[in-house]
Amino acid sequence: MTETMRALIAGRGPEWVLADVPVPQPGAGEVLIRNRASASNNADMPMLAEADPSSGGSGDEFIAGYEYAGEIAAVGEDAGEWRIGDPVMGTYPSAFAEYLVVDHRFVLPRPLGLSPEIACALPTALLTEYGALRVAGFERGRSVLVTGATTGIGFIGVQLARTLGASRVIATTRSADKRDLLVSLGADDVVVTSEEDLTEAVLGATDGRGVDLVLDHIAGQTFAQCLPATAHDGHVVNIGRLAGPASTIDLDALSYRHLTVHGVSFGFSRDWETVPILDALHAQVLPAVERGEIRPVIDSSFACEDSLDAANRLRSGEAVGKVVLAFE
Ligand SMILES: NC(=O)c1ccc[n+]([C@@H]2O[C@H](COP(=O)([O-])OP(=O)(O)OC[C@H]3O[C@@H](n4cnc5c(N)ncnc54)[C@H](OP(=O)(O)O)[C@@H]3O)[C@@H](O)[C@H]2O)c1
Repeated sequence: MTETMRALIAGRGPEWVLADVPVPQPGAGEVLIRNRASASNNADMPMLAEADPSSGGSGDEFIAGYEYAGEIAAVGEDAGEWRIGDPVMGTYPSAFAEYLVVDHRFVLPRPLGLSPEIACALPTALLTEYGALRVAGFERGRSVLVTGATTGIGFIGVQLARTLGASRVIATTRSADKRDLLVSLGADDVVVTSEEDLTEAVLGATDGRGVDLVLDHIAGQTFAQCLPATAHDGHVVNIGRLAGPASTIDLDALSYRHLTVHGVSFGFSRDWETVPILDALHAQVLPAVERGEIRPVIDSSFACEDSLDAANRLRSGEAVGKVVLAFE
């Protein structure tokens, strides 16, 4: 195995810098992964900007990225059942590199037939959306509203809810031209929030009852609008805050409907929370991925040498789905 690898470094300026760095070595409980492709996440660009020393950022250097797909290249002591060559995917820090070391409990098997370029765009969304559904006690037959359903992770939320047996899936977007895509992924109703009132549209689609569960990626006043659109004893899970973290809510809507509100952020330091979700996901969701029932929406793919083009695509705000970086 080579001693150095190519990696995209943040903290040297306004852009990721492709550099040769040492290949990390797996310690106890860890595996080394030969990464073939990585997908972007909403957090990648803010993290790059915050580290940029030329604009007052920290200047702290780190290997960027969170999502990877490839195969096991080496196995440390006490690292579970993994074997060299096993196809894998996952979400873990320092993923924009040819190799990365991962706690073996966070690694997911890559389903047969799923190329790294497709698989890398799944793990964060699967963990987050499935984790949110579990936190809210989702069961087959419940109705689900996904706000910001055209986010990279929201696309997976729609498909997961459908695959796991939701009675009705309602998806929101600001853009009418994404309606057909959401319907093709399994949404029964699409609410275009630039044209319709969210609360009225959801109540209209549910005979005035509201949905049982909300996966909210938007926050701001969208979160407030979700409360009166949720059925009595329902659950609202805030996942993302694309419209800002502040919201003015009507507590009458919360209390009289006996709603439960959850906040989720599935981090790597919370292994006691995240590992059981990944284990359950392995058993209950990966078979559906293998059957092709859950697929990421990929906007575009770039070689890691062209990371500036990938960054500019992300900054454009026009990407629909994931931007992928290849590390072949
Ligand atoms: N809790 C967790 O563990 C966790 C994990 C991963 C991500 N997240 C969060 O989840 C959110 C989605 O992440 P992502 O990477 O999937 O997003 P993304 O793919 O970058 O989402 C882009 C889409 O979001 C919609 N959008 C953007 N700004 C909006 C606004 N102000 N109001 C309404 N819609 C807006 C737009 O869709 P339309 O034009 O169709 O409306 C846009 O195409 C982020 O806030 C991220 O931080 C949370």
